[in-house]
Amino acid sequence: MSPDAIRRPEDAQLRLRLHTGVAQMDRHHERLIEMFGAAGDVLRAGGEAAALAKIVGELIAYSIYHFDSEEALMKLHGYGAEFPEAMADHIYQHRIFAGKVVGFRDDLKAGRVVDRWNILDFLNSWLLNHIDTTDRRLAQFIRSRETAA
Ligand SMILES: [Fe+2]
Ligand SMILES: [Fe+2]
Repeated sequence: MSPDAIRRPEDAQLRLRLHTGVAQMDRHHERLIEMFGAAGDVLRAGGEAAALAKIVGELIAYSIYHFDSEEALMKLHGYGAEFPEAMADHIYQHRIFAGKVVGFRDDLKAGRVVDRWNILDFLNSWLLNHIDTTDRRLAQFIRSRETAA
């Protein structure tokens, strides 16, 4: 896997693709992408597993914070009342992602041999895809509620 696979939030095209129009979500996503970029920098510099595990630990904490706040937005705007399956699937996706990042951090801490670029790229791509599809659907719903209010 190429180190270039991890793109930075300064990438205007990427930013445009991920723009949902809900400011809080967009801010959080930008921070998450930035953290992936920082993890990529550590790897590029031939970084130690411990340094990478530290950033991945921060990524876990921030992901959980972000998922909680997104799930609070769902409840606030009544997403589950209108689209119960979409909401359940969305929350399920958050849990799966958090579990995968925790698994990666644990592998790093335990010194298990893993393909770091591959895992980081997988997680990064997963997140970008989640934002572009699942989060976008939620954001559209929130924006429709805001304009109706
Ligand atoms: Fe989400
Ligand atoms: Fe999100």
